[in-house]
Amino acid sequence: MKITVVGAGGNVGSTAALTVAQRDFAKEVVAIDLEKKDGEKTFYPSKGRALDQWQTAPIHGFSTYLHGSSDYEDTKDSDICIITAGVPRRPGMSRDDLLSINANIVKSVTEQLVAKSPNTIIIVVSNPLDVMTYVAWKASGFPKERVMGMAGILDTARYSAFLAEELDVSPKDIQAQILGGHGDTMVPLPRYTTVSGIPVKQLISEEKLNAIIERAKVGGGELVGLMGTSAWYAPGAAAAQMAEAIALDQNRIFPCSAMLTGEFGLKDLYIGVPVKLGKGGIKEIIEIELDKDELALLNNSADSVRGTLKDLERILSEG
Ligand code: NAI
Ligand code: 2OP
Repeated sequence: MKITVVGAGGNVGSTAALTVAQRDFAKEVVAIDLEKKDGEKTFYPSKGRALDQWQTAPIHGFSTYLHGSSDYEDTKDSDICIITAGVPRRPGMSRDDLLSINANIVKSVTEQLVAKSPNTIIIVVSNPLDVMTYVAWKASGFPKERVMGMAGILDTARYSAFLAEELDVSPKDIQAQILGGHGDTMVPLPRYTTVSGIPVKQLISEEKLNAIIERAKVGGGELVGLMGTSAWYAPGAAAAQMAEAIALDQNRIFPCSAMLTGEFGLKDLYIGVPVKLGKGGIKEIIEIELDKDELALLNNSADSVRGTLKDLERILSEG
């Protein structure tokens, strides 16, 4: 099992690479990033981080060989590719600028990966997530089962962590699903939240649960406010968990950004829904029953994702 992570000189990519290695289910992890020039000097961030991480193998006790590169030849025949490449929004940069820069990065990275690994499975992490996953899918020419986005596992993990803290229980015992696009319009489903099978509403007041839901919705922003940059530990771990489910054919049920073709009454867009992940990628989209209010929230989230997709199409058509 060979796994490539692109953007692995950065925070999310390097965390995903290390988490994959620590879980020890892959033979090799290739950490790709750009070379960085600083005056006369050239730096190789993904080579450096991967070398440092590989030197933790004797301490953590894993066998996965982790190494960095800026040459796609080294990614040849990867089974799974995780794309975290992108730029953060800088002062003076408009939302449109960010959208077009990241779309160009994701498109070019996908084309280079696919040229070397035509049978790979792609997990996108770069933001805006659902639209970047769509861009990768288009650029890959792959069947939709082999291209997916990571966000739902992260959003659900944040929600579960807050609940565990409030209820004073282990996070391991919380089962939950957050659907929809990755952003403020995400759709938490308290009706499908249980603590070891006990419906969460039996354990917490509606007021406290609503406060937790609202906090989870802006969980990414809370971390940006604390650190001045976006999160990486949970995002990187979440991407690695998807790779593991596919690599080990685990048939795990996770919320992932998937291309819909009529499920939940939606089509032609990537958005977060429950899927079965295993060998070959997305084996099934699980069309859980949603009530009128939940469906309205999902439709609202889909409108928001479609809006971003339209913005991207407009930017690209303007050249
Ligand atoms: P970062 O800036 O630390 O790392 C990004 C890396 O991508 C940099 O090392 C950069 O050199 C590299 N890169 C840029 N263009 C490239 C190219 N053409 N080829 C190869 N590498 C390239 O950023 P961070 O914090 O790691 O975030 C990465 C992306 O993940 C961002 O778009 C961020 O918004 C997104 N993100 C998504 C989450 C989700 O839930 N889907 C959660 C957290 C972050
Ligand atoms: C997050 O949710 C910013 O998407 C990033 O942390």
